[in-house]
Amino acid sequence: MADVKIIALLGSLRAASINRQLAELAVETAPEGVTVSLYEGLGDLPFYNEDIDTPDAPTSVAALRAAAAEADAALVVTPEYNGSIPGVLKNAIDWLSRPFGNSALKDKPLAVVGVAHGRYGGVWAHDETRKSFGIAGPRVVEDLKLSVPSPTLDGKHPKESAEVAATLRDIVGKLAAEVS
Ligand SMILES: Cc1cc2nc3c(=O)[nH]c(=O)nc-3n(C[C@H](O)[C@H](O)[C@H](O)COP(=O)(O)O)c2cc1C
Repeated sequence: MADVKIIALLGSLRAASINRQLAELAVETAPEGVTVSLYEGLGDLPFYNEDIDTPDAPTSVAALRAAAAEADAALVVTPEYNGSIPGVLKNAIDWLSRPFGNSALKDKPLAVVGVAHGRYGGVWAHDETRKSFGIAGPRVVEDLKLSVPSPTLDGKHPKESAEVAATLRDIVGKLAAEVS
């Protein structure tokens, strides 16, 4: 049987992003039969604008929608900015929400995880990401959650935390199992 394909969408553009490390860990530790691919193009998207959301939409938009269409499920990995969703991710959600009612992620399972500095690990951003994607088209799997306060990682790569690594792997496996 073909692998279950999961697209990972990253809410930080920072080269040394801890969330990038977490997303890469999901790629590296995906269970057998599951392929996680980190999508690299969110920073290339223009701000959402209905005037340019035409059949000739920008290449960066077409590329995102094509990658999302290829995927069976989505894993969102994001920090929290000012108590909410980083702009780069919210912009991607808006692009992925169109065509209205026919998102490239329509009805596909989606889970949200991430690391943030605050004591709740970015749970506001994660809750709002679930809410926004829930409106945009995917089927949000509400109980697959991981919000890691970065101080608990003590400056180390998330893979150094056995608990984070095991929880992430479990989430990826359960997300893949949601694919019908
Ligand atoms: C503009 C900005 C806003 C931030 N707002 C929050 C916040 O509301 N809550 C929080 O826990 N951390 C906040 N932080 C800290 C981030 O959680 C921390 O920098 C995190 O490591 C960013 O993720 P990254 O390492 O993947 O880039 C903020 C950081 C930036 C740059």
